[in-house]
Amino acid sequence: MSRPGTALVTGASTGIGLELSRVFAARGHDLVLVARSKHKLDEVAAGLSAKHGVRVVVLPADLQDPESAERIARAVAREGVTVDYLVNNAGFGVAAPFVEVDVRRSLDMIALNITALTHLTHLFAKGMRERGRGGVLNIASTAGFQPGPGMAVYYATKAYVISFSEALAEELAHTGVHVTAFCPGPVHTEFARIAGNEDSVLFKLGAAKADTVARDAYDAFMKRRVVFVPGTSNWLGVQLLRVSPRALVRKVAAWVNSKTEPKTGSGGSSGPSAKPGTPSNGGRAPRANSAS
Ligand SMILES: NC(=O)c1ccc[n+]([C@@H]2O[C@H](COP(=O)([O-])OP(=O)(O)OC[C@H]3O[C@@H](n4cnc5c(N)ncnc54)[C@H](OP(=O)(O)O)[C@@H]3O)[C@@H](O)[C@H]2O)c1
Repeated sequence: MSRPGTALVTGASTGIGLELSRVFAARGHDLVLVARSKHKLDEVAAGLSAKHGVRVVVLPADLQDPESAERIARAVAREGVTVDYLVNNAGFGVAAPFVEVDVRRSLDMIALNITALTHLTHLFAKGMRERGRGGVLNIASTAGFQPGPGMAVYYATKAYVISFSEALAEELAHTGVHVTAFCPGPVHTEFARIAGNEDSVLFKLGAAKADTVARDAYDAFMKRRVVFVPGTSNWLGVQLLRVSPRALVRKVAAWVNSKTEPKTGSGGSSGPSAKPGTPSNGGRAPRANSAS
């Protein structure tokens, strides 16, 4: 029986990328796993190949480094692997007013969320088009449909991902190569802790489970959906954004990115502070993903 194609997944060490790797492996895909944490990738690889009998190649890389994409392409070629599916999942956000964020953090975010995604897509989509088969799954966000006061650069990076993916899907239509922008709302992962928005109204309103989100992403991708928003409330929210005045959209986005009041022991309010644009981490650099 023919194998279902090899998938390269970025940000595969934890969160949505880890769950996506599990879904691909469970469906019989060989894998190439990319992230910075080699030890975590090695653990994931050992577990997935033992459980599903798939081949898993680990390529540790910091995708903020502009040389990484080409290094990965060379390493993949050395391993004799053909990448049939590229999953651009690695990304991070920063929750604080733009002028208070160290500009290097914002530039690192653009390097990872936009530049690396674009570079890897160029390197691998060319081969897919030549072979007449394959696909690119880009993990965007509902953030990409609106401006995001309090997380301005992050929301803008995701708007790029949606626009780029849609355009590429059209360019590659009828070549056998499909492209999906998958746009989840809040998800329980390390993302909120790293961004510093665990206490935001957005995350307090509820977050999806990463394994559910990953299954939805795989299904939408294999069904060749171009833009997919999982979950009824997320989907309705995006439809509302399309018909609402932009000035209102900005205010609401500022509110959902604002910090909720901490609970007090004497029955104090746990509701949102409703102070537009209030940073949830005071503009401090997030921990784990700080520039290396
Ligand atoms: N969680 C949410 O609420 C949410 C909602 C919508 C969209 N998304 C998007 O979903 C994607 C995955 O996020 P997540 O929630 O799973 O976050 P996460 O739990 O923080 O995982 C991020 C992954 O990216 C990797 N990564 C981070 N910086 C990297 C770098 N410089 N080079 C290589 N790999 C790097 C991390 O591994 P290492 O630290 O080992 O490098 C990790 O595997 C992101 O694009 C995010 O924007 C998330």
